[in-house]
Amino acid sequence: MEGRCIMRVVKSVAEMAEVSRELRASGKTVGFVPTMGYLHAGHISLVKAARKDCGSVVLSIFVNPAQFGQGEDLGTYPRNLAGDVEKCRMADVDVVFAPEAAEMYPAGYATYVTVEGISDRLCGASRPGHFRGVATVVTRLFNIVRPHRAYFGQKDFQQTVVIKRLVRDLMLDVEVVTVPTVREPDGLAMSSRNSYLSPAERMASVQIYRSLASARSLRESGETRAGVLTQKVRENLSHEPMFKAEYVELVDADTLLPVQSADGRCVIVLAVRLGRTRLIDNMPL
Ligand code: PAJ
Repeated sequence: MEGRCIMRVVKSVAEMAEVSRELRASGKTVGFVPTMGYLHAGHISLVKAARKDCGSVVLSIFVNPAQFGQGEDLGTYPRNLAGDVEKCRMADVDVVFAPEAAEMYPAGYATYVTVEGISDRLCGASRPGHFRGVATVVTRLFNIVRPHRAYFGQKDFQQTVVIKRLVRDLMLDVEVVTVPTVREPDGLAMSSRNSYLSPAERMASVQIYRSLASARSLRESGETRAGVLTQKVRENLSHEPMFKAEYVELVDADTLLPVQSADGRCVIVLAVRLGRTRLIDNMPL
């Protein structure tokens, strides 16, 4: 068996950069899983994908203030570092990088990364600045961790498109890997924010997956018109009065631009509000 080290928990940026240099120097491929913690099986599926491909796996835990807007849930975002570290140990992560905000954004920090166009649509429209925060922290994390491959969940579909654009445009030397969405047995996409749901909201939330699945069935029966497919989703969501749909769109999988017909590679994306919780999901058609 290859001698694997005991898992390290690193807090400082300088130490993380040094550990990454050592990993690379020893000839290991570095697989990187950026997260905001409160880990669930969706995050762990990214770790498993990285573990399969790479000689070493680094997972970061950082609730990134730059990607939360005013009035959003930065202050209440669920956190459990000790529990997360244990889950990482069980999943055979090599390094947990858990910096403080002052390490990631030291005094005088002034550089932000904006991926124009795609950052302004869908989630970007209701969360101005969100993807700027994501692109900035991911760029900084990539420069600290220097991974060969980085793993992102299909669950946050727009995020994967933004990151791929960022990597192409800035010629970052990292391969972006997208991992399928992990769902609860009843279909709800796993998310750290599901912990906000009341029991009644949790019961209602299954309708999100059902509405997407109904559009997929309709597509499989030959329907291609975007208007009809998205209307099917809206109709299904409207069965549940607790939902407020923010957007439901059929978009091109690469550009995120709306399409009129589901002929090529496209995805139905949606965001809903359920009480005070905002949930997103999507389904490739
Ligand atoms: P977070 O929401 O913690 O998610 C970390 C990674 O886990 C993301 O790539 C996300 O898409 C993936 N993920 C979440 N739920 C999933 C599920 N049910 N199935 C599969 N993958 C899932 O996304 C972020 O953090 C942040 O924006 C981050 C990229 C870390 C930048 O701060």
